[in-house]
Amino acid sequence: MDILLCGNFDADERQSWQQALAQALPEGRWLDLDEARAQPAAVQAAVVANPPPGSLQGLPALRLIQSLWAGVDRLLADATLPPGVPIARMVDPAMSAAMAQTALWATLALQRGFFGYARQQRQRLWRQHGQRRADECPVLVLGQGEIGGAVAQALARTGFPVTGWSRRAGEARGGVRRVAGAAALWQELPGAQVLVNLLPLTEATAGILDARLFAALPHGAGLVNLARGRHVVDADLLAALDRSQVGHAVLDVFHPEPLPPEHPFWTHERVTVLPHVAAQTDERSAAAVVAANLRALREGREPLHRVDRRTGY
Ligand code: NAP
Ligand code: GLV
Repeated sequence: MDILLCGNFDADERQSWQQALAQALPEGRWLDLDEARAQPAAVQAAVVANPPPGSLQGLPALRLIQSLWAGVDRLLADATLPPGVPIARMVDPAMSAAMAQTALWATLALQRGFFGYARQQRQRLWRQHGQRRADECPVLVLGQGEIGGAVAQALARTGFPVTGWSRRAGEARGGVRRVAGAAALWQELPGAQVLVNLLPLTEATAGILDARLFAALPHGAGLVNLARGRHVVDADLLAALDRSQVGHAVLDVFHPEPLPPEHPFWTHERVTVLPHVAAQTDERSAAAVVAANLRALREGREPLHRVDRRTGY
C-alpha cells in the first residue's frame, strides 16, 4: 500500500515517524509529498500531522486521511480537502493517560494552592494558608470524549467531585456525573472550583472561555485549558485574572503558537504556561493505531475514529 506521510514536522521528526510507522506496518510504502505528486494515482492513504493546505489535492485513489493529531481543527480548515474521503483522528489510550496526568497535576496544584506557594517563594514569603480537601473542590470538565472522559474519571478516582459536560447526554461512568447542552453549562459553572477544558475546537466552541463564562464561575476558580488556544478570549481571561475572578490559569495551548514573546500570559503571576505538551502523541503507540486503521482499509472494513465533518470533530 502506498501511503503519503506529510505534516508540519522537521526532518528528524519525519524520520522518527517513518521508522515507527514502518515497524508497525512493514508492508506500507511511505511517500513524501514530492514522491506522491510524482505518482498521484498510487496513493491510497495519507497519514498527516497538520499538513500544509493543499497537500491532499489531486490524489484520485485516496481512500483514507489518518490524522496523527487528536484535534483536527487545523486539518479541517483546509478548504481543498478532498470531499467524501473519510478522515480518522488519533485516538490513543497513551495520549489520554498523559492528559489525565497533566490535568491531575494542575487540578491538585490548584486545589492545594501550590501555584500560590510558588509565587510566595519568589517573594521569600513564609505564609501558610488553609488546606482544602479534594472532596471540597468540585471540578467541571468540558468535553467528555476519548480524552475528556479519561481525565474526568482520573480526577474522580483522586477524590474530586467531577461533572463532565458534553453536547449530547452520556452515561455516567467511573464516578463522573454527566450533564449536556448549553443550559446545563450555565447551571454547573457557579459550583465549579476548577474548570478543565477538553473540547474540540469547532465553530460552536471557539471563544467559549470568555468574560461571560468567567463571570459565572465562583470568585477565584481555577482554569485549566488543555484543548485549543482559540477556546479562550485572551483579553477576557486577562481581565478576569486581574480581578482574581479567575484565581489561576494553567494554559497549555495558545492562539497563535508559539505564544509570542510579548504576550502578557508569559509574565502574568497567575498564569502557568506550558508549550503545548499536555499530551504529546506517542509515536510507538500511535503508529500501532495508524497501522490498525490502514489494515482495516486494505481489508475493506470501516476505519475507526472517523471525524464528522459537519460537527468538526
Ligand atoms: P472527542 O473524543 O472528539 O470528544 C469531544 C467531546 O467534546 C465530546 O464529549 C463532545 O460531545 C464534546 N463537544 C463537542 N462539541 C461540543 C459542544 N458544542 N458543546 C458541548 N460539548 C461538545 O475529543 P478528544 O479525543 O477527547 O479530544 C479533545 C480535544 O483535546 C481535541 O480536539 C484537541 O483539541 C485537544 N487535545 C489537546 C492536546 C494537548 O496536548 N494539549 C492533546 C490531544 C488533544 P459529545 O460526546 O456529545 O459528542
Ligand atoms: C494535540 O494537540 C492533538 O490534537 O493531538
